[in-house]
Amino acid sequence: MKALVLCGGHGTRLRPITHTSAKQLVPVANKPVLFYGLEALREAGIEDAGIIVGDTAEEVRRAVGDGSRFGLRVTYIQQEAPLGLAHAVLIARDYLGDDDFVMYLGDNFLVDGLTGVVETFRRTRPDAQLLLTPVADPSAFGVAELDRDGRLVGVEEKPRRPRSDLAIMGVYLFTPVVHEAVRSIKPEARGELEITTAIRWMLEQGLRVTSHVVHGYWKDTGRVEDMLECNRLVLESQEPRVVGEVAEDCQTVGRVVVEEGARVSGSRLVGPLIIGPGAVVRDSYVGPFTSIGPGCVIRDTEVEFSIVMERSSVLGVRRMRDSLVGKDVVITPAAAQPRAYQFVLGDHSRVRIG
Ligand code: DAU
Repeated sequence: MKALVLCGGHGTRLRPITHTSAKQLVPVANKPVLFYGLEALREAGIEDAGIIVGDTAEEVRRAVGDGSRFGLRVTYIQQEAPLGLAHAVLIARDYLGDDDFVMYLGDNFLVDGLTGVVETFRRTRPDAQLLLTPVADPSAFGVAELDRDGRLVGVEEKPRRPRSDLAIMGVYLFTPVVHEAVRSIKPEARGELEITTAIRWMLEQGLRVTSHVVHGYWKDTGRVEDMLECNRLVLESQEPRVVGEVAEDCQTVGRVVVEEGARVSGSRLVGPLIIGPGAVVRDSYVGPFTSIGPGCVIRDTEVEFSIVMERSSVLGVRRMRDSLVGKDVVITPAAAQPRAYQFVLGDHSRVRIG
């Protein structure tokens, strides 16, 4: 069994962060969201992964390499434009051959892993298997319709009037029959060759498409608040670990991780939080659910419930929360300051607070 991991596409909802970066590489607890998926695939016994890449191919390649550090053999498959999830399957035909495969959307975040899901598929081997989960806003997703016995009877992509609250999650399992499905369908109104259309085709052909409703934690990390929520969740379960330098004049409370080469002084750290390698935190308060990336500088600042990506500086900000700050951002103080700021800043942003 192989994996097809989708890392192409445009991250419109995470702009400006994703103007310059792959949305699959936005860090959760200082680790790209994609890595959680790759680890879960390997844990489920998969050794070969094809990664679909688009405009941000270089960045994804740099981060994942040949996959050996995940125990995976990775093959990159270039998609000329984000023409849809079914289009990704279409262009991966040669790579996938006649193998069953898991299609995994690289920006999805799952807490419970994939082992159980893959085992169920291997045991029952339907033509396709979907994972569903109840959501508050189904019209933002593919939506499944089940009959009274819980059997899947229909699927629709981002319907205006959803027939259920069951979203299709970004983990699909297929037998090679899906190749015929993706060849048989036409692009939908938004111009994309939708996987939902291929699944509907399979249902219409009388093929066996099963679904499982899961209630564990799942997020499509497309929006800032979803990223912050995933970050919160991962930090909550981390083990405290202080390898970097924390000076005696600091106070640390709760699950705090300070990585190698990080230096903290004159500060109060209230976990769960993580301070990345080589970061400097001085005369600051870093509060719960915060990830400070490698090489960041935090000075005279109060920050909580936020993600600050690598090499960014936040100086003199009282107080910052619910924020997602890209790479190489510089925030510096000016004269009088209002009481709170919320930032969604792209890589290389420069902000002066006045
Ligand atoms: O997250 C679950 C949802 O994912 C499902 O409920 C929907 O049925 C499904 O269509 C999909 O909807 P999204 O609008 O969230 O898909 P998005 O365009 O964000 O793409 C998902 C991932 O696949 C993302 O990592 C980018 C990548 N992608 C996307 C397209 C359209 C590609 O690699 N190539 C593509 O052509």
